[in-house]
Amino acid sequence: MNYAMFAFAPIPGHDKPELYRELVAAAAALTDGEPDAVANMANLAALIWTFVPDLNWAGFYRLAPGASELVLGPFIGKPACIRIALGQGVCGTAASTGATQCIADVHRFAGHIACDADSRSELVVPVQRDGAVIAVIDLDSPVLARFDADDAAGVEALAAAIAGRI
Ligand code: SME
Repeated sequence: MNYAMFAFAPIPGHDKPELYRELVAAAAALTDGEPDAVANMANLAALIWTFVPDLNWAGFYRLAPGASELVLGPFIGKPACIRIALGQGVCGTAASTGATQCIADVHRFAGHIACDADSRSELVVPVQRDGAVIAVIDLDSPVLARFDADDAAGVEALAAAIAGRI
């Protein structure tokens, strides 16, 4: 057994694209050779929390093959709703459309599901494997309009990198 202590951390002063490149590299290294999806999602949620500032929730909702609802996966933040029907809320919309949802003001998103009253903006990115959505990565922020196209592209790169490991 190799009981390594991980010291992944963002390098201060780097711009967003560079921060996400470092996050993706760290995610690839952290999950390399580990077949347990729960362990990998737990570490990835912690890694996102470490690298991406101004979050109040970061984690996964999973979609089993043929299922009609997402189920909560590993995350950092307050306890959250456990099941979300496809097409419902920001997460269910991302999962049913396969398209990233970048919501500047969650109070203006019809059907937003409030799990933490602090959340003001939200980014949800589908994770796809073999052409099917298998999960979404959900980031919430207490800051209005926290997420932009660089965040969306960065988390999409992360989703592509870890799709085979969760
Ligand atoms: N706001 C999400 C629900 C999940 S929590 O943010 C963790 C939504 O509308 O789907």
